Amino acid sequence: MSEGVLLAPALVTPSGPAPRRGPEISDTLLVREAAIAWRDGLIAFAGHAADLPAAFREEVSGGHRRVSGSIVPGFVDCHTHMPFFGWRSDEFEARLAGETYRDVQGRGGGIFRSRRLLAEASDEEVLDFCVPLAEEMLAHGTTALELKTGYGLSVEAELRQARLARRLSAEIPQAATVTLLSCHAVPPEYDRHGWVEEVCGTIIPAAAAEGLIDAVDVYVEDIAFTVDDLRLVGEAAAAAGLPLRAHADQLGASGTAEVAAALGARSADHLNHCGAAGVTALGHAGATAAVLLPASTLFIGASPAPAGELIEAGAAVALASDFNPGTSPCLSMPEVIATAASLYGLTPGQSLTAGTLNAAWVLGLEEKHGSLEAGKRADFLVLDTDDPAMIPYRPGHNPVAEVWLAGERVA
Ligand code: NIG
Ligand code: FE
Repeated sequence: MSEGVLLAPALVTPSGPAPRRGPEISDTLLVREAAIAWRDGLIAFAGHAADLPAAFREEVSGGHRRVSGSIVPGFVDCHTHMPFFGWRSDEFEARLAGETYRDVQGRGGGIFRSRRLLAEASDEEVLDFCVPLAEEMLAHGTTALELKTGYGLSVEAELRQARLARRLSAEIPQAATVTLLSCHAVPPEYDRHGWVEEVCGTIIPAAAAEGLIDAVDVYVEDIAFTVDDLRLVGEAAAAAGLPLRAHADQLGASGTAEVAAALGARSADHLNHCGAAGVTALGHAGATAAVLLPASTLFIGASPAPAGELIEAGAAVALASDFNPGTSPCLSMPEVIATAASLYGLTPGQSLTAGTLNAAWVLGLEEKHGSLEAGKRADFLVLDTDDPAMIPYRPGHNPVAEVWLAGERVA
């Protein structure tokens, strides 16, 4: 089994119990002249090289490999829309020419377009499309991620997409959880109430019984579902023992952040139009993280979420890519962190916690992922710099020099 030690000029990690709330998000631990040691795929030690336990010490003089960049935890991308099939760059062009995201969706593009593309592709074609994307994520440091449905939009197609997500998860080296987002758009074959009934009465129980999903999400928006629908889906998710998540206040204000917090949802995501009441609710919410998706904000030109206010109010802020072919074709967590800095004012330390430990908590993976602590999986990155502030400082540059998963170097 894998066992090893790396020495580095610096190791930076969030520390303390997940999630880090409010200003705790800035409490990263910086260790200079650091070492990380692992055995059987788990971290055995992360700290000052001088404190390396005896069992690993004997080789120190014999020359453990010393890297020149910082060691940080692998990124956890807690909001993506993989698996999907095909791109929609022409819709991006149409938006540049003046169409809005709502317009594109209204003429049968957007989510409905991805639904058609997924339906027309074979399972193998979908996996062949997604596996390289997961590899690209890995090369950019994502060592755990969320997968979602929401492009199936019929009972059978949603279950198929959930099965594809589980198959994808088995074919990639990263840890991955699956979220059911059947309430992503109202299929034209149903009215909204009818589809919500189908989701609550048929899809959630069937997907849960087959062990296909780890959480349930709802897109609350004027072009999608309402907060009352969120309540109904929340009940069905709770009956199946699954956490609830919500796409909240992305294109307009709907009070979804408040409702998600009141329902004890695991997360409220996007939050571009989250108002003062939503900020207060998420600031006091024990169970609900505020997931920020700045790449999607940038890409669709939305107004920025109130990131600083959320942190000040005490919210558990997490960061993710929202990787999807419509609103965020960006899968790079370093790019997300760079955008979070420039657009949301997040410091490098805040982004590191938000994109690792807090994100792991959103996915229920915090026991094994999200920070460099003894007992967690040895998923870590070696950066090409000893200064993690270089991540947001150089958008477009991939600062990840090495990726380690369970103590094995994979990229
Ligand atoms: O999180 N806004 C809703 N869902 C996705 C976009 C899906 C798509 O356009 O394909 C999002 O931004
Ligand atoms: Fe999303």
